Amino acid sequence: MELQSSFRTISYKEGILTLIDQRKLPTEERYVELSTVESVAQSIENMTVRGAPAIGITAAFGIAVAARTNTNFEEAHQRLAQTRPTAVNLFWALERMKTIWSQSASVQDIETEAQKIYDEDVQSCRRIGEFGAALIPDGATVLTHCNAGALATSEFGTALSVIRFAHAQGKKIRVFADETRPVLQGARLTAWELMRDGLDVTVIPDNAVGHLLGQGRIDCAVVGADRIASNGDVANKIGTRQVAGMLHLHERPLFVAAPWSTIDMTLEHGGQIPIEERKSEEVTHIQGVAITPDNVAVLNPAFDVTPAKWIESIVTDRGATGSNHARDLMQQQSEHS
Ligand code: MRU
Repeated sequence: MELQSSFRTISYKEGILTLIDQRKLPTEERYVELSTVESVAQSIENMTVRGAPAIGITAAFGIAVAARTNTNFEEAHQRLAQTRPTAVNLFWALERMKTIWSQSASVQDIETEAQKIYDEDVQSCRRIGEFGAALIPDGATVLTHCNAGALATSEFGTALSVIRFAHAQGKKIRVFADETRPVLQGARLTAWELMRDGLDVTVIPDNAVGHLLGQGRIDCAVVGADRIASNGDVANKIGTRQVAGMLHLHERPLFVAAPWSTIDMTLEHGGQIPIEERKSEEVTHIQGVAITPDNVAVLNPAFDVTPAKWIESIVTDRGATGSNHARDLMQQQSEHS
């Protein structure tokens, strides 16, 4: 099926990494050009680029920038690895770049490997879309949390690829995008990219999910993931666990969509996933305007863990798990090793 992305989240040419600036969306579509490892690392830290697969791809191009600028590999690797702790795709991509760097000192080989990581992600998002679309019924109202779209990946997205493919198959799909406080990835980014592609999207406040489920107005949910443990526990944007608990209570299915690079088979369970704590200003301010008393205490965990038992299926580029996520992930791994 032919789907086209109408914008480029990430592109790289001859030492210049170009990113759409996600901090400015949806009011401004601005692109930044980066040509040093430090600026690439900062773009991940400050969420110019965000979303697990997009962070991994950006880090890979960060290593390409290191090769172009004669930066020491260990220094570049260390700096990029320090940026964000939860999304495993970052470390996965850096490992791949480490392998190629140890095999070849050629800038071209290093750039080719980074571009390969990008190209593989495009294919992976397509396969996730195809596998996942089969799970979404015609006429469904689908809730999504955060942004697991083209902005969070190379193209199409993970959760939003499932929705895009279901839509492209002719299914009538309505999307509810919850706001996703504090950074508002749902209200700002998911709404922007789905409207741009002509999908039927409605923004809802985060705290409307229980109410709408109670009224029978949400049929299922599809979300992305930042890291998935081998037992199927899923770390995703803060608030996912609340959404998952409400879906479970109302007997509505939750689908998780992610590339295989998000699976961390070294972890037995989600409790072992490092959870990033971000700065308090994300909570105390909106667009620079204070919304809390000065100096109030704040907690700002950026991710949470949803237990595998609340998940109907984990859809990767290798297929969709059934009720036994751990067994099916293990099988997907052995079939591809
Ligand atoms: O903090 P963010 O915006 O990088 O977090 C992103 C998410 O949690 C997404 O839902 C997840 O990465 C899936 S991205 C395909």
